[in-house]
Amino acid sequence: MKQRQDPITFITSYDYPTASFAEKAGMDMILVGDSLGMCVYGYDGTMPVTMDQMIVHSEAVRRGAPNTFVIGDMPFLSYQTSDEAAVVNAGRFFKEAKVDAVKLEGGVRVASRILAIVDAGMLVMGHIGLTPQSSSQLGGFKAQGRTLESAKAQVEDALAVQEAGAAMILLEAIPPEVSAYIRDLLSIPVLSIGAGPHCDGQLLIVSDMLGVFEAFTPKFVKRYAEVAKISTEALTAYVRDVKARVFPEPRHIYPMIPEELSKFKEWIASEKGKRGLQEY
Ligand code: KIV
Repeated sequence: MKQRQDPITFITSYDYPTASFAEKAGMDMILVGDSLGMCVYGYDGTMPVTMDQMIVHSEAVRRGAPNTFVIGDMPFLSYQTSDEAAVVNAGRFFKEAKVDAVKLEGGVRVASRILAIVDAGMLVMGHIGLTPQSSSQLGGFKAQGRTLESAKAQVEDALAVQEAGAAMILLEAIPPEVSAYIRDLLSIPVLSIGAGPHCDGQLLIVSDMLGVFEAFTPKFVKRYAEVAKISTEALTAYVRDVKARVFPEPRHIYPMIPEELSKFKEWIASEKGKRGLQEY
């Protein structure tokens, strides 16, 4: 697709239904992102997310999108400690959730991890720029590559990721001039999330673009729906209907077979004295 200059469509997903919607929509790739920490579990960041959580959600996504390229996101401390830990945990994604690739954050400093996973026969996506797992070192969720020095560091990281054998790379929140340069420099596909229009494809976080996650919205997000609003309106209407006893309606019930109902009424009448049942 990079060679054909056919833009790659890429979305996060954390569950079966959303993955099936993405597949129906013709999405090229799905990331089971550790952003599920915020979007699904309500944590204030991605740090607490565990391998077990990632595996459960990746399995659900795989079932929802059996024919789409699915990438499992390696959570904090699943690869930072050693090459061996990186291989074992990447392997869990492939063995248990049947993903097509794994993603890990970092450039030069995780090159040996990428190499080790690739050497074990697995596909890897690199992720540089604003890397949420190291956001405290970056001074928060801040765009990267906005100065010459930082831009050069992004280029160096991108080259290290490709050199280590990654099959593709994701650039997060870096200026379009820097991502365009990296896109031209690398032979592997370069995906963007907040890295401008000049990349080989675009990623958005599904909870942002559908308007499910409302705590904050990064600048690079385009809203395609207002699901939180629609859901809250629907739930409010349900509460109102139950309180007003207008739900359920006759069409929502399972009526008894008529002759069985007559027998049931006779039985109730005979039981009345014994059990104190009320008139219906
Ligand atoms: O977890 C995720 O969704 C990600 C994106 C922020 C790129 O890693």
